[in-house]
Amino acid sequence: MSSPKRKTEELNDDVVKKARTSQDDNLESEIAQEMAFTEPSNTTPDSLINHEAAIKYWSSTEPTVNGVLGGYPQVSRIDLQGSGNFLAKLRRQSKHFSADKKLRRAVDCGAGIGRITEGLLRNVAETVDIVEPVKSFTDQANGKAGVGEIYNVGLEAWHPEKEGRGPYDLIWNQWCLGQLTDAQLVDYLKRLPAVLSEGGWIVVKENLSNDAAGNDIFDEVDSSVSRTDTKFRNLFEDAGLRLLSTELQKGFPKGLFPVRVYALVPR
Ligand SMILES: C[S@@+](CC[C@H](N)C(=O)[O-])C[C@H]1O[C@@H](n2cnc3c(N)ncnc32)[C@H](O)[C@@H]1O
Repeated sequence: MSSPKRKTEELNDDVVKKARTSQDDNLESEIAQEMAFTEPSNTTPDSLINHEAAIKYWSSTEPTVNGVLGGYPQVSRIDLQGSGNFLAKLRRQSKHFSADKKLRRAVDCGAGIGRITEGLLRNVAETVDIVEPVKSFTDQANGKAGVGEIYNVGLEAWHPEKEGRGPYDLIWNQWCLGQLTDAQLVDYLKRLPAVLSEGGWIVVKENLSNDAAGNDIFDEVDSSVSRTDTKFRNLFEDAGLRLLSTELQKGFPKGLFPVRVYALVPR
């Protein structure tokens, strides 16, 4: 899932274990068929993304921190603390924004119920816009202090350069970019510099794939992918963005996917 997620035993590992212990000659060919079915050869993980299925899943999820964090509400506090520290470092190094004055406008992308808006962004910016396709989630944020425009749309269809209220000093994307295909993600990231103020940052904070073969991992529960660090860096490059700073989130419970935060600027 694009939320915090426990590392899972790969189905294929189980299948291989079965093969090693079986005496049945027919089983190996059954297993080969099963593996071919679970891992179609010409299919990239992101090509399995289905937006309709994703929205159906998220729309049936309770509009709470527990719901948007996939049953790990306890990571929210440490996540927000890590993000706050990361942002504070960016601000201390900035020539454009003084660390003791609020940013003018930020946007929380794939915002869910506005967990990050409420716990971080509205403390550092005067106004925070929200982009989130699921209305039952944004209803939780609508009307709260510091919340500006709300766009009920997926990021693949959000065109801030045409309809946005930018420029934005900070564009925050967390635990939602796995809902986009690689091509949609690059197109989306390419649209952002037009609405980023001078000296502003695009922040991406996402789970990293821990696949032993270095592949992205598709999750059918919310129809999303977890990408490798290398894939993220390549896509940022393709989108014309420069990596300014990056850190691994520390302090999450053991067994969850690693989470990395990236600060990007136009090249
Ligand atoms: C794991 S939740 C994270 C919410 C929020 N970023 C947070 O960290 O609390 C994933 C969010 O992505 C949203 N989402 C699903 N498809 C999306 C899309 N195509 N574009 C943007 N967000 C999407 C879901 O509705 C959900 O709110």
